[in-house]
Amino acid sequence: MKVNNFSAGPSKIPDSVVNQVSKDILEYQNLGYSVLEISHRSKVFEEILSKVKAHLYELLKIPDNFDIFFLQGGATFQNTFIPANKPTLIDNLIFLISGTWGKKTFQDFEKYYNQNPFSIPFNHETYDELITNVYKSDEKYLYITSNETIEGIQIRNFNNFDNKELIIDMSSDICSYVFDWKNISYVYAGAQKNLGIPGVTICISKEGFLEKSNLTSYIDAHNHIDKNSAFNTPPTFSIYVMLKVLEWIADSGGLEKIQLDNSIKAETLYKFLDENSEKFNLSVPKEFRSYSNIVFDFKDSKLTSNFLQSSVNKGFLGLNGHRSIGGVRVSNYNSISIEMVEDLITHLKGFI
Ligand SMILES: Cc1ncc(COP(=O)(O)O)c(C=O)c1O
Repeated sequence: MKVNNFSAGPSKIPDSVVNQVSKDILEYQNLGYSVLEISHRSKVFEEILSKVKAHLYELLKIPDNFDIFFLQGGATFQNTFIPANKPTLIDNLIFLISGTWGKKTFQDFEKYYNQNPFSIPFNHETYDELITNVYKSDEKYLYITSNETIEGIQIRNFNNFDNKELIIDMSSDICSYVFDWKNISYVYAGAQKNLGIPGVTICISKEGFLEKSNLTSYIDAHNHIDKNSAFNTPPTFSIYVMLKVLEWIADSGGLEKIQLDNSIKAETLYKFLDENSEKFNLSVPKEFRSYSNIVFDFKDSKLTSNFLQSSVNKGFLGLNGHRSIGGVRVSNYNSISIEMVEDLITHLKGFI
């Protein structure tokens, strides 16, 4: 049976990458051993690491005054790592909480600092109202989750908040569009949606953002920056898979092409849902509709469960909405093809 994997993460890896990885597991670059066996102190791994960083700088147009480093612990560890490395942040921070992941980070920051950060609730106002609300505050830093994976809410236009320096959780939309770094201080993302498999978190930090402090060794950002992400044993295989995915992005035409494809795929599905609005509920206002996670529900809840059951039977995987909100979620990451979206629409047509 043909499988169409729309899972929210870990998620589909491009077929050509899976093929290359399986070859490299058997033998890497005619070296006589597997990529799984490479030492993090070897020249071979150093080369992988430097290529990954070079691709990220180039594809994302990251300015030279940003450091890139890789950590373990997922995006969730950043809720401890950032406050630990930036003790003064709490006095100068507002949170824009647009969904579940932002709320979790807010709650962890609150616990870490033993103080309540200022927050701006997101009540589905218009972009203009949101910007006005952010502008009203004096704090230097603004925390946002660029894409709320569970609710399907995305904020892509960071320059709109140009009186703030941004700290952005980009776990579910990194490397899916091009953006300007002008007012960004820190970006982080788990790899397991657009950049490969779990185990590695990409951290991109403007020089001077993370303050020096006397922390225990793993949590001290400077150890990771100074030792080029090999302060202790890094997740070598996850970093290698990220390289293969980045090469695939570059070979596919770069981020501009990926961005265009993502918008075409997402708009095709949204158009179908809008044209059948008597059958579907879409609660996210159009301005904030995510291109990465398209969240909707059938108006008739019986159809939701019938559709989800039939989807599994027909090889459409990972379409269940997050357990906290139910409904349907289509994750439209970079690896999803337009043909997969068209197949899904054909399948949906059987339920309207
Ligand atoms: C936007 C966002 N932030 C954070 C997380 C948590 O990531 P992790 O499981 O890597 O800690 C997720 C997981 O899906 C996410 O989508």
